[in-house]
Amino acid sequence: MSSSTLPLATGATIPTLGFGTWQIPDGAPAYDATAAALRAGYRHVDSARAYGNEASVGRAVRDSGLSRGEVFVTSKLPAEIKDYRQVQASFDQTMRQLALDYVDLYLIHAPWPWSEIGKDCTAQNRQVWAQMEAIHATGRARAIGVSNFNVAELGAILDGCTVKPMVNQIRWFVGHTQPDVVTFCKQHGIVVEAYSPLATGRILDDRRLATIAAHTGRSVAQLCIRYALQHGLVALPKSTHPTRIAENADMDFRISDEDMAVLDAMDERS
Ligand code: A2P
Repeated sequence: MSSSTLPLATGATIPTLGFGTWQIPDGAPAYDATAAALRAGYRHVDSARAYGNEASVGRAVRDSGLSRGEVFVTSKLPAEIKDYRQVQASFDQTMRQLALDYVDLYLIHAPWPWSEIGKDCTAQNRQVWAQMEAIHATGRARAIGVSNFNVAELGAILDGCTVKPMVNQIRWFVGHTQPDVVTFCKQHGIVVEAYSPLATGRILDDRRLATIAAHTGRSVAQLCIRYALQHGLVALPKSTHPTRIAENADMDFRISDEDMAVLDAMDERS
């Protein structure tokens, strides 16, 4: 089990391996998967109000027998909320669902509503961010950040903020590594989290990855997760199968520099 962490700008640390819960239905599936992840040694769970499973995720954390301080819990403000007056109520709803005293990280889920991807919401995002700062000041969100933000969208927040985003969670996997965003974040001390590090399963049958995984003695899934970690990112793989959940946490190996170069060369540079 990988127990490594990265420092956040708050001085806290974030475990580099987190359990992704996107697309895991509320109820037994989300509860059982989160419980399996915590049993397998994950100490970081990524949820969101939009996933609809916060109640089960929170219950699994509370039932785990781990103290609250041992588990890093993230949730997210729905992308559709661009009216700053709705931010606090949505956060309160998240906290009621999770039934936890605080979250370790609270993110703006996207810079635009999902029905209007790419829309310029600069002014609204700045107002929403001020509310995120207010929530952070109460201590109920120990760190705050964003998700799916590009360089321009991040820059617009940085220009007007009091507290800088500490994290940007982006879609990131072999072949889709968004180097401009990652470089910008690293320059500004923003931790990058990779969601869908297995491309939601679509790259697991790639023959080039299978070849590298075979001579590394690991599965393609493990190779993809390790690739994100070796780039200095937090990785958030999702699975509902306990054996895969455990497999994805077994990160006690390194990808050689030569193989990293081959994987980097697969990037579509988009
Ligand atoms: P399942 O939940 O049935 O295990 P991502 O993390 O990029 O969102 O990818 C998640 C997808 O990859 C899910 O469909 C998940 O299926 C599958 N998956 C996760 N871990 C593994 C693994 N170790 N081996 C094979 N498939 C996996």
